[in-house]
Amino acid sequence: MDDGNGLGDVLEASDRRAAGAGGRVTLTLRIRRYNPETRGQESWWDEFTIESEPDDRLLDALHHVKWYLDGTLALRRSCAHGICGSDAMMINGRNALACKVIVRDVAPRVTVEPIRGLPVLKDLIVDMEPFFAGYRSVLPYLINDSGEPEKERLQSPEERHRYDDTTKCILCAACTTSCPIFWGDEEYVGPAAIVNAHRFVYDSRDEGGRRRLEILAEKNGVFRCRTTFNCTDACPRGIEVTKAIQDVKRSILFDRF
Ligand code: SF4
Ligand code: FES
Repeated sequence: MDDGNGLGDVLEASDRRAAGAGGRVTLTLRIRRYNPETRGQESWWDEFTIESEPDDRLLDALHHVKWYLDGTLALRRSCAHGICGSDAMMINGRNALACKVIVRDVAPRVTVEPIRGLPVLKDLIVDMEPFFAGYRSVLPYLINDSGEPEKERLQSPEERHRYDDTTKCILCAACTTSCPIFWGDEEYVGPAAIVNAHRFVYDSRDEGGRRRLEILAEKNGVFRCRTTFNCTDACPRGIEVTKAIQDVKRSILFDRF
């Protein structure tokens, strides 16, 4: 017996989507390429035109290019479901995850470039090390030197709610690489590092808040932010990045850690 959530329903929904989709679409991908091993330091543009299902993701289209048209195209991806954070790229001038962009929304033509502000290694792959250096610098882990409790460390729903939004970060770097301050100076820790500091600073079980706020009060910390909101607009997880940054600024200024 079908309980209303079975395979039959899934297949029916899929048929409905296909029927309503109006067939395949033609998509031209304009991709910024870079390969210092074969073409020197200059980047160039390549165009590929493919037939695609309108409900496919842009990542599917990039896979099509790589698997059937040009195997040298380099890109990062893993989960294909908006969770691993590895396929952030600049799509039509805005940072996004290729696996969350639907072909119908960008057809008939889309421009794909690597995220900005980090050294490009090849095509759409950037060196993430400066990004992760900023992340590591804010001590993004639970610090508690009070010894182990007998049972678990309890926390009320209200205490948990205080930092709920910033637990959703998948470290895709879309926020940090959309930030004009970071473009100009990769020493700035960047929005993602501040989001991940926020996640622990406001965790009632953590005792490292003062250390993190001292780090973020330094020259390359949170006061470099000029509140342009690019980071919030770019975040594929819907995190209120600018608000998290403001929370941290306020704690440094007024909580007197
Ligand atoms: S805050 Fe959002 S955009 Fe920034 S790294 Fe985390 S998930 Fe990506
Ligand atoms: S491939 Fe994992 S988030 Fe897109």
